[in-house]
Amino acid sequence: MNKAWWKEAVVYQIYPRSFNDSNGDGIGDLQGIISRLDYLENLGVDVIWLSPVYASPNEDNGYDISDYYAIMSDFGTMRDFDELLQKAHEHHLKIVMDLVANHTSDEHQWFIDSRKSKDNPYHDYYIWRDQPNNWGSVFGGSAWQYDENLNQYYLHNFAIKQPDLNWENKAVRDDLYKMMRYWCDKGIDGFRMDVISMISKDQRYPDAPVPEGAVYGDPTPYTVDGPRIHEFLQEMNREVLSRYDLFTVGETPGLSVERALKYVQEDRHELEMVFTFDHVSLDGGDYGKWSQKRTDLVELKKAIMKWVKGCENGGWNSLYLDNHDQPRAVSRFGDDGEYREMSAKCLALTLHLMRGTPYVYQGEELGMTNYHFTSIEECRDIEEINAYKDLVTDRHIYSDQEMLENISSKGRDNARTPMQWDDSQNAGFTTGTPWINVNPNYKTINAAAQVNEPNSIYNFYKQLIALRHAHDIIVYGEMDLLYEDAHDLFAYTRSYNDEKITVLANWSDHEVTYDLTPEGDLLITNDEDVTPHTLKPYQAVAYYKK
Ligand code: GLC
Ligand code: CA
Repeated sequence: MNKAWWKEAVVYQIYPRSFNDSNGDGIGDLQGIISRLDYLENLGVDVIWLSPVYASPNEDNGYDISDYYAIMSDFGTMRDFDELLQKAHEHHLKIVMDLVANHTSDEHQWFIDSRKSKDNPYHDYYIWRDQPNNWGSVFGGSAWQYDENLNQYYLHNFAIKQPDLNWENKAVRDDLYKMMRYWCDKGIDGFRMDVISMISKDQRYPDAPVPEGAVYGDPTPYTVDGPRIHEFLQEMNREVLSRYDLFTVGETPGLSVERALKYVQEDRHELEMVFTFDHVSLDGGDYGKWSQKRTDLVELKKAIMKWVKGCENGGWNSLYLDNHDQPRAVSRFGDDGEYREMSAKCLALTLHLMRGTPYVYQGEELGMTNYHFTSIEECRDIEEINAYKDLVTDRHIYSDQEMLENISSKGRDNARTPMQWDDSQNAGFTTGTPWINVNPNYKTINAAAQVNEPNSIYNFYKQLIALRHAHDIIVYGEMDLLYEDAHDLFAYTRSYNDEKITVLANWSDHEVTYDLTPEGDLLITNDEDVTPHTLKPYQAVAYYKK
């Protein structure tokens, strides 16, 4: 197995809209990020992944791009971006851009031209049909939108304002590669590729089976991992990726391990690693993710290990519990009440000593929690708003109260409330009115209270990141599960040459006992009061033997 800098890196994800506002308009921006680079350098991360910063009408907060060559005006200008890139590099931080290439905004010039007439050269940049099939969109409703002028329907796997690009058209691919080279030539360090497993569609466009509880067919078998996906990615690798030293991670919903390996095996020249979804898909209900169910730890361990093991022989894995599409990990998998600090550190220790490249999502390093939404008016996410309309207003499946509880435990806006910098008004995020409410717990949970506090969650992350940088075993060692049937204990070993690490983490609010005696010395723990064979609620320990 080859060593590589991107395997040894720790990534920090920034959702720019919610990170830091520099000009008081209530929206985070690039100058806001620049003024926090010291904070990130001090944490010790290597790479910043920026959620999209390109021009966008913000139907899906930047995941609907109207101009790939321009910066979103809310966020600043291209000069601000160039300054961010340069200053990040001065702070030893690399910048990875989000690449949204499955779809654009309907306000992108290509789409505006595409819908002008059937013989417009850009018509074939998107997927038009005379008749729709029964496919449903990820954000609810049909995946096809009627256009009166053309008397045709266009495909949008996500929002109506996010038409899917037609990757069958070579001109589309060439234009995208050209755009990618533009950013690489500027000196960016890589791409996180949005729903990249969906770019090749089954050209028959057949009707899809309708899952129970759903109104439309689930197009996944025809939109994910399609017939030409590897041809497209290899072409992209030849045309762009192989020409630079880049960090690449593909967001690949809907893939089995076996299929995912084909995206990342080194001799295939496609991507370096992927984001998998199995471990964040275990707490859904009868209507998708909208439920109160909690993840069972045995199932979670199985889901994670399947990927870790699958990648041990060539291929690489990404490690995450949080991102901008997921609720806050401490609320979801830990305890955001009495044991918040302990459980946040417990989750961090468990994840950061695993095999793969770890990702920290803004605020995770502070133990930020879910928000308690008490009205749909407080929600900003198109997925939540559409689901509320479908499940409450139209189909009466949940009451208003029930759905708000579901949103408060599973909705994407939980991750998007503003970063909590200090205990001043609006958590120091903005001097204006924030575009989405700040979590009222910012008075106690904020960066200012943690950066100089040695026992804080922030400094625990800092320690874990430093350990990874100091020990090859944490990056490259083999990983094996212990006590796989335990519902409260997440335990594993790492092995590398003669070295060994043993991790024992109590993911529950009761005491847990175990019989093994770990080899070596204590490496790190979230509670120094360690009793052999016993873990207090959410206590986690790691031992290291040389
Ligand atoms: C990805 C993004 C998500 C976005 C979707 C459509 O899943 O992470 O935020 O809504 O793609 O672009
Ligand atoms: Ca701003």
